[in-house]
Amino acid sequence: MYRTLFALVLRRFDAETVHHLTVRAFALLSALPLVKRWLYKALAPQDPALRVSAFGVHFPGPLGLAAGFDKEAACAEGVAAVGFGHVEVGTITAHGQPGNPRPRLFREVAERAVVNRMGFNNAGAAAAARRLRRTRGLPVVVGVNIGKTKVVPESEAAADYVTSARILAPLADYLVVNVSSPNTPGLRNLQAVELLRPLLKSVKDVADATPRRTPLLVKIAPDLADEDVDAVADLAIELGLDGIIATNTTIRHGGETGGLSGRPLKARSLEVLRRLRARVGDRLTLVSVGGVEDVDDVWERLLAGATLVQGYTGWVYGGPLWASRIHRQLSRRLRRHGYKSITDVIGRTA
Ligand SMILES: Cc1cc2nc3c(=O)[nH]c(=O)nc-3n(C[C@H](O)[C@H](O)[C@H](O)COP(=O)(O)O)c2cc1C
Repeated sequence: MYRTLFALVLRRFDAETVHHLTVRAFALLSALPLVKRWLYKALAPQDPALRVSAFGVHFPGPLGLAAGFDKEAACAEGVAAVGFGHVEVGTITAHGQPGNPRPRLFREVAERAVVNRMGFNNAGAAAAARRLRRTRGLPVVVGVNIGKTKVVPESEAAADYVTSARILAPLADYLVVNVSSPNTPGLRNLQAVELLRPLLKSVKDVADATPRRTPLLVKIAPDLADEDVDAVADLAIELGLDGIIATNTTIRHGGETGGLSGRPLKARSLEVLRRLRARVGDRLTLVSVGGVEDVDDVWERLLAGATLVQGYTGWVYGGPLWASRIHRQLSRRLRRHGYKSITDVIGRTA
């Protein structure tokens, strides 16, 4: 049904307009206690065999929504109610900013891909904090992804991230330093270890100082050279980070300017995961994202060493029940293979 709706209706509208309407629908759902509880009961992962723990946080299932959909922390509960095991909100910047001029979001339907050059449009950390402080009616795991405010120069980047971290770390189940989006000029330079070390160190000090010690992860680009992937992995271990999210969108494509996500990213994202696992083993939590479309992809990422898997573009093409469906299929597959828990699958072929 969703395929038909997508083919006949949704794809005829501007992608960003559909995006905003969808976010509003999920924000509305988040505000309807009875409906969201009913949907949560029907669609959220309930099978105890799907539960995973990572960095002290308990997730009802391994598949979560990647950053970029709920940029303003407006609808995490609605998203959890349709079956995602966690929601990563953001990217949020210290100061509000409009992002790049529209159009800035493009579907590549034949490729099952999306190109975006949104540029961290969001109302800023304080506004997001107000939303995150609202009592949650559902037990949803919310990660908070932070990025650099566009007008802040590279030399002041660390202080800008620290401002966001001070405001948001106490409200996050985990915090992500995003240095990998292609749409903020110079952002990805921050992945160079000599710039990344002081940046991550200062954010970690803030995350460590919250009452629960907020877990800290870094999100990297698929376009890093292999040696740079290794260098970031070594740095994450050196600094005592909790994990790495790999990967963001790629700029290696021939379409509209911006970052490409979805099916064409699958191979490189998996490759980066395998490289990270070979480098760090189980000393860090690896979160794999990029081109995940179905249960086979999730299964493959888990086997390759990811503890958690995220998707965004797969959901756009797969429909609202995408995550719920995949979690149900994962349950069945676990049983078929004789595993008692999803944790027995993680890193099996690494
Ligand atoms: C429209 C759009 C906006 C995104 N915005 C962000 C963002 O603000 N911060 C971020 O870390 N990643 C962002 N991403 C990247 C996703 O989180 C994810 O890393 C990437 O899309 C690869 O996963 P996918 O192939 O499942 O979409 C965005 C992706 C899309 C499609």
